[in-house]
Amino acid sequence: MEMISAKVHHEAAVTAQGLTKFFGDRAVVKGIDLSVPRGMIYGILGPNGAGKTTTIRMLLGIIEPDRGSRTVLGHARPRDGGDHIGYLPEERGLYPGMKAVDAIAFMGALRGLPRAEGKARAAVLLREAGLGHAIDQRIRRLSKGMAQFVQLLGAIVHQPELIVLDEPFSGLDPVNQERLEALIVRERDRGATVLFSTHVMAHAERLCDRLAIIAGGQRRFEGTVDEARATLPMRALYTPRTNGPGLAALLPAGHEAVGAAYRFTLPPEGIEPLIQTLLAQGHGIAGLSLDRPGLHDAFVRIVNQANAEVQA
Ligand SMILES: Nc1ncnc2c1ncn2[C@@H]1O[C@H](COP(=O)(O)OP(=O)(O)OP(=O)(O)O)[C@@H](O)[C@H]1O
Ligand SMILES: [Mg+2]
Repeated sequence: MEMISAKVHHEAAVTAQGLTKFFGDRAVVKGIDLSVPRGMIYGILGPNGAGKTTTIRMLLGIIEPDRGSRTVLGHARPRDGGDHIGYLPEERGLYPGMKAVDAIAFMGALRGLPRAEGKARAAVLLREAGLGHAIDQRIRRLSKGMAQFVQLLGAIVHQPELIVLDEPFSGLDPVNQERLEALIVRERDRGATVLFSTHVMAHAERLCDRLAIIAGGQRRFEGTVDEARATLPMRALYTPRTNGPGLAALLPAGHEAVGAAYRFTLPPEGIEPLIQTLLAQGHGIAGLSLDRPGLHDAFVRIVNQANAEVQA
């Protein structure tokens, strides 16, 4: 596969400064800043209605921001990025009468890819995606998920530098979700920048080199998956040797029983003082494991905190 030219890109693939959008008198995106480094998989995460799609549409120049600015592949006017961008919009749609291979070649042609080359690449992409049987099928004969995958291939067939996918996993079965994850990684490894939105944390956790969490039209977090998880304290799973009376009173507030064990969030002073106390009081330690909550928990806490601040 052709690699993106090795010329050094110092500027980010996408930036946003104070992007703001009103619908009527309601601000739905409120001053979002972004910097998406080149060659990364970058996630825009947020609950339904957070403003992900509106942000993406402003980034691509499909709608104009009311305030703020953005750059796309170094261009102040996103549309100047044209043929170097691939985009899967949230609302899907292909010409139902077209064959899958032609639909992909057609989308490539809109981005400057010669039709014959587009057809050849489309056939390869379809076979790689396990959709070889659909090459000559008309779009109207494909299932919804298959048609969506075809549209996705149409967004990448011209090997763009920047790939923007709005909720690409929605509507795909688990096998196709895995295929899409592999495809996104492959495109990143080819040198492309992939920007995608989702509210499914499992995909984001596996894929994102960096991510932003937006809620209520504002950016609430920016960083790596590990940095997002580190916003939450570690959890402990503790099994006493003898579960005598008085044990519960020694454990941090909010602990819960899980069979013979207890799960709790580590107190700010850490686990050591608690261990000393448990041993001194004769409860012993039959088992103790610590783990870091996943991106799902970090996302829920960040979004809940955003909601609480808005209501306060
Ligand atoms: N054209 C429009 N006119 C009026 N309000 C709109 C319009 N488009 C979006 N909104 C509102 O803006 C807010 C943000 O919508 P947006 O589609 O950007 O959210 P999202 O994060 O993409 O959500 P989802 O996860 O459901 O796709 C929502 O409250 C929505 O109702
Ligand atoms: Mg959306």
